Amino acid sequence: MAPNLMIPGPVTVEDDVLYEMSQPVRPHYGADWTAVYNETRALLKQVFRTEGDVHILVGSGSAGLDAGIGSLTLPGEKAIVGTNGYFGERLIEICEAYGLQVIPVRAKLGEPLDPARFEEALGGHPKAALVTLVHLETATAVLNPLQEIAALARRHAVPVVVDAVSSLAGAPLAMDEWGIDICVSATQKGLGAPPGLGPIAISARAWEIMDSKPTRNHGWYLNLQTWRKFATEWGAWHPHPVTMATNNVMALRASLNKLLAEGIESRIERYTKLALRLRNGVRRLGLRPLTPDARLAPVLTAVYGPEGVGSSEIVKYLREEHDLRISGGLGEGLAERVFRVGHMGPRVSEQDIDLVLSGLEGFLQHRGILQIAS
Ligand SMILES: Cc1ncc(COP(=O)(O)O)c(C=O)c1O
Repeated sequence: MAPNLMIPGPVTVEDDVLYEMSQPVRPHYGADWTAVYNETRALLKQVFRTEGDVHILVGSGSAGLDAGIGSLTLPGEKAIVGTNGYFGERLIEICEAYGLQVIPVRAKLGEPLDPARFEEALGGHPKAALVTLVHLETATAVLNPLQEIAALARRHAVPVVVDAVSSLAGAPLAMDEWGIDICVSATQKGLGAPPGLGPIAISARAWEIMDSKPTRNHGWYLNLQTWRKFATEWGAWHPHPVTMATNNVMALRASLNKLLAEGIESRIERYTKLALRLRNGVRRLGLRPLTPDARLAPVLTAVYGPEGVGSSEIVKYLREEHDLRISGGLGEGLAERVFRVGHMGPRVSEQDIDLVLSGLEGFLQHRGILQIAS
């Protein structure tokens, strides 16, 4: 039986989406294929809310982050990097791997990034090549104030690269309206498809910046200009530089059609209700979410485990006794302190949340620490 995935991705994929993965493999070129591919890109544009370009990298979300940061910058340039958790630190690593000089803007674990600190960094480093940050820090379930930070960067004419791997279609995000230049996601989370593709959206301004830096040395595969070249020059026949993962694209197309039929706002509203149900439930069990309800992430909840109990014990109990997959914490200081429950898949229901809650109740009873709040 398929495991019940209540982790922060990958999500349980709906049967009609999964069906596309079992279809005969087709050629990744020609008019028929190009139509499917372009239709999928057009659907993604609606989800990113952009009139810019969208490419679908064969690779995970990290391929998109690598491509976005690497394509936009030259070694030695400055990168203002927001970090308040494991995936923010990953952005620092990627920037350093491209030889960038990192100006970190840190916030404490569990706290959102502070726009005022970005204003200071932008004032102090007006020639920075980019600002980059994670929208939803998956390690802590903290949603960062992306719209405000992007507006500040735009005022300073510094481009913004966003890691929206766990937030796209799971939290409000409007790429063009918010002034985001490169927005990166992955298929296995809010987009509700199997892992394997990295959708990336690119603004006209980002292309101008890339075109203004002729002496770049960014390899070939993860160089966005390579992807644009094929989409332009081979557009009618083979609009991507490599053999496309055609079944993954067809599954993605099916899942995007379902997402847009439901409506992104409605889906986020549905997730928000699930988040509140989970939050109220854990509080009844005497546990505390890491972030307050006012700052909840619709698709992900991190919860402090009981004092003195490692979260890996809880994860193991739910897997072994209830066949439920949740996640432990991620990153220094959090790994054993919190557990994380993902409610980011289109199939997650109130019943799934209740299953997690009764699993947690079982764990607390088993350990003799249950306190039911009145
Ligand atoms: C916020 C964030 N960024 C980046 C990644 C890395 O994505 P991938 O594993 O698809 O490369 C993840 C994966 O969980 C994530 O949650």
